[in-house]
Order: sequence, then C-alpha cells, then structure tokens
Amino acid sequence: MSTFHEKVVYQIYPKSFKDSNGDGVGDLKGIIEKIPYLADLGVDVLWINPFFISPQKDNGYDIADYVEIDPLFGTMEDFEELIAVTVEYKLEIMLDMVLNHTSIEHEWFQRALKGEKKYQDYYILRDPKADGSHPTNWVSKFGGPAWAPFADTGKEYLHLYDVSQADLDWRNPEVREEVFNVVNFWLEKGVKGFRFDVINVIGKEEVLIDAEDGVGKSLYTDRPIAHEFIHEMNQKTFGKQSNIMTVGEMSSTTIENGIAYSNPDKQELSMVFSFHHLKVDYLDGEKWSKMPFDFMKLKKLLNDWQEGMSKGNGWNALFWNNHDQPRAISRFGDPIHHFEASAKLLAQTIHLLRGTPYVYQGEELGMTNPEFQEITDYADVETHNAYKELQDNGLLPEEIMEIIKEKSRDNSRTPMHWTDEKNAGFTTGEPWIKVAGNYPEINVEKERKEGTIFTFYKKLIQLRKKMPIIAEGDYRGVLMDHPSIYGYVREYEGEQLLVLSHFYAEAVTVEIPQEFLTRASCYLIGNGEKRVLTAKMELGPYETMAFYFEADEKKKG
Ligand code: GLC
Repeated sequence: MSTFHEKVVYQIYPKSFKDSNGDGVGDLKGIIEKIPYLADLGVDVLWINPFFISPQKDNGYDIADYVEIDPLFGTMEDFEELIAVTVEYKLEIMLDMVLNHTSIEHEWFQRALKGEKKYQDYYILRDPKADGSHPTNWVSKFGGPAWAPFADTGKEYLHLYDVSQADLDWRNPEVREEVFNVVNFWLEKGVKGFRFDVINVIGKEEVLIDAEDGVGKSLYTDRPIAHEFIHEMNQKTFGKQSNIMTVGEMSSTTIENGIAYSNPDKQELSMVFSFHHLKVDYLDGEKWSKMPFDFMKLKKLLNDWQEGMSKGNGWNALFWNNHDQPRAISRFGDPIHHFEASAKLLAQTIHLLRGTPYVYQGEELGMTNPEFQEITDYADVETHNAYKELQDNGLLPEEIMEIIKEKSRDNSRTPMHWTDEKNAGFTTGEPWIKVAGNYPEINVEKERKEGTIFTFYKKLIQLRKKMPIIAEGDYRGVLMDHPSIYGYVREYEGEQLLVLSHFYAEAVTVEIPQEFLTRASCYLIGNGEKRVLTAKMELGPYETMAFYFEADEKKKG
C-alpha cells in the first residue's frame, strides 16, 4: 500500500500566495510565514509552481535556469529554510519540473543560437518545407503556428507552447542526462515530490509530419516513447528513493495511457492529472467559448476515469482547481446564492473519490473568479493571445470579455486573500495582478473566525487518513442516469461508503437503490443537516451527503 493514497496535496502559486518584501510578488519567505496555516489545514504535501530563474513570459513555465531560484521569489537559502521548516511541520515539498521545454533565454538555447552544434541538438530544429512554409502544420497550444525562426539560420524551432518556450529533444541522450541531473539536484535538496509539467508530450517522432487535423496533438501526445523516457527518468532519479510522490500533467490523454503512466508495475509515475472533466463547458471542444457546464458529461467523465483507472490499477490526481483553470466554485457552483454549500459540494465530491486530492490555494476559503472587466487587468499570455484571435474572428470587445471573464487562467492567479486589509493582506506594495474585489467577504481571517469551509476541508482531509475505505476502497458509480445527482459508492473489505452530490440549486427527490436500504448505515459527512438514509431522499440546493455502512463481520463481532 502506498502512502500517497492517504495524502492530500496543497498547491501554492508562489507569485500570488504571500509577499514578504512588498514588491507585489509572492515569495518563498511568504510561504514560510504561512506554513503553520497549511499545517493546520492538515495537508501533507505542498506543490509549488516554478520559482526558478525565468523571464516570466509564462509565469515561470519558461525556465532559463533549472537549478537557481529567481530573485523575484528569494534565494537558495530561503529555499533551504523552507525545506527545514516544512520538515518541522511534517510537510513535504513537491516541485514543478518543466522539462518539455526551456525558455529561449536558457543558456542551452542561447549557445545553440550562437552556433554550438551540441546545443542545437538539444532542441527540435527543422528546415521549412520547400514552399517556405513551416516544417509542419502544427498549432501551438497558445495559438498560432508551433514553429518560429531559429535566428537567421533558415531553420525553425518547435514550440508547442509560447514562442519563448522551445521544446527540448528528449531523443537526444544528452538532453535526458541534463534533465535527470536537474531532478537529482532537487532530490538532494530534500524535495519529496515532483509534478512533471506536460510530461506526455515529450516523445516526438524522429520524422515530423503534417497533421491531418491541422493541429497535430495526436502526433506528439502519449507516444510510446514518452513512456520509455518517463520510465528511464524514474530509474535514474526519483525511483531510486522510496516514497517520492510524482504526478504527471497529462495533456489530452486517455485512460489507457493514464493507467500505463501510473500503474506501479510500470515504474513510471505515482499518478496523473487528466483534464477531460474540466472541458465540459467548452462549446464544440473550444475553450474560448461560453456555455453552461454539461453535468451529464461531467459525471460520465469522472465516472469513466474512476472506473477505468481502478480496473487498471492506475491512480488519479483528484482536482477541480489549479493555476490554469478558472475557479471551480464560479464554474460548477453558485458563489452568490449558495456559497458555502457549493464550495463544500465540490470539496466532498472530489475528496471521497479514489485518488489523491489536490487543494488549490484559496479553494479552502471558496475563492471565486475575480470578474475583471478590462483586458488590461489580465496578465496571462494565453489570455492575450486568445483576445487577439477572438478579435480576428470578428467578436466585439464586450463579447470577448464575457468569455475571458469565465475562461482566463488569471481567474485562479489573483492574490490569496489573507485579511480584509488593503490588497487582502497579500502585499504592502502594488500586487502584480489585481486582487479580486470580494476579499472583504472571503479571506482567511474571516473564514477562521466565522466560516465553515476551511473546517470542512480539514475534516475531509482527516477522514482520508482515518478511513481505509476512502484511501483504498474500490469505486462504483450509482444513479448514473440521474440528471442532477452524481452518486458513487466506495467499497472496502465489506464496508461501503455511499456519496450523493446534487449539483444544482433546485431541490430534488431521488430514489435510493434497494441494495443500500437493506443494510444499516450512518451519516458520515455532508454540507446539510445530519440525515438518515431512506428509500426516498430529498436533496437541497448543492447538497452533498455521505453514508457509511459497516462490514457485516464487524456487526456480528
Ligand atoms: C502546463 C502549465 C501551464 C503552462 C504550460 C506550459 O500546462 O500548467 O501553466 O503554461 O504547461 O509550460
């Protein structure tokens, strides 16, 4: 049994967590200051987004030096202090490794530009086609072509993300050695976990060809060689130590691949992030569109991944929020009319599933999208690219802003709300991005005094550690045709745990399947009044409830 089944991860977006020196940007010392708060929440692991040297074109995902701390965030001494403090509080640090690409300001790319063959071989450089067009028709995930001119050499370099993020050529063994050294460097510093950024796109084919769909994803995503590279990284780095927890960010992956990446027999990673359940409000698969979420699709996807990964002995990372996603409460809940109920509904639905839950900073307070009105209030490169593209498609500024307000990654990147003081107590200076206007109502100080969301998260985190059925139980979906309730049962050594989550504001009555009515049950946790399980149950707005059934043997004994 792996212990990461019982753990809960808290994600810190360092730029927006806590600023200790008044420059408007969060930093490592700010994180150190808040360790007691995180320890109190009861989480085990802190995933910190990249704080390495970076021109910050993509907020640190464009790395110019993998083994130095960006002065924006502090120093190596600060990092060592952070490790020491976390050890004291029995917390572990998980670092974000962005190994698919480097910043074009990285020394490797710079030396490549200067003509050093060794470093040119670190990147994916190709000649344009005979007609002068790009080497392939692939599209960058941040918009536009995935190729850019490599100085005046006549060649082009591949960038699946921003033009400032050049893809590394993992087929080159020297590249693999370099990136494995990076992982080992941080292991030696005492890091106990890694989140590998877009790790399922590292395996490009030797010969790159045009994509029939004009996009290219399938030609570089989840290639068999990506599994080989990840396995090799496991063997040469974190796999040499026991208990290092790893998670791969898997872009557009499949359950089959998710199993291969995370089944312990394969010796690749501990678990995977998949994103299909967060695309249920994309109109015809297009992110930059506006549409209410499709609940039936959401529950089908959650269910398919739970069942599929369980069957193949894979392991899911469980999450609604991260630094690339709008705030889930604004998306799937109702922060205006059912604030506490919908925050808790989302928490419980995820935390009682099979997998390892992740809490994104501020989620434990019910932080919402900031609803910024002006494009100038947004900093994210992807958002600005989308603005231009939507403008080119003929949308009016107001129409574009309606979409951006819902979809921008900056929705989750606004500063953490600590108090009701200026800038929500995040900084004494000018924050790098505006603070959401509702911080006087939603902040840590107020939540700790009179709120109930933080304590609900705390309880869910503790339950996972106390109850093997939550950490280890099997999963089965129930009431799959119900139009507003997501129901599932966890099963472990004769025990059962039935979870019912109602995703809408109108009350609804549901018939409980017979199999649960013949056994004695007790109410375990929920966001409403304590309940008794009966043949017909009424669920109120955003109500969630969980019932526990003891194993028969225990009852007899
Ligand atoms: C991942 C990160 C995202 C970043 C991208 C490119 O998706 O989560 O923030 O922009 O990779 O590194």
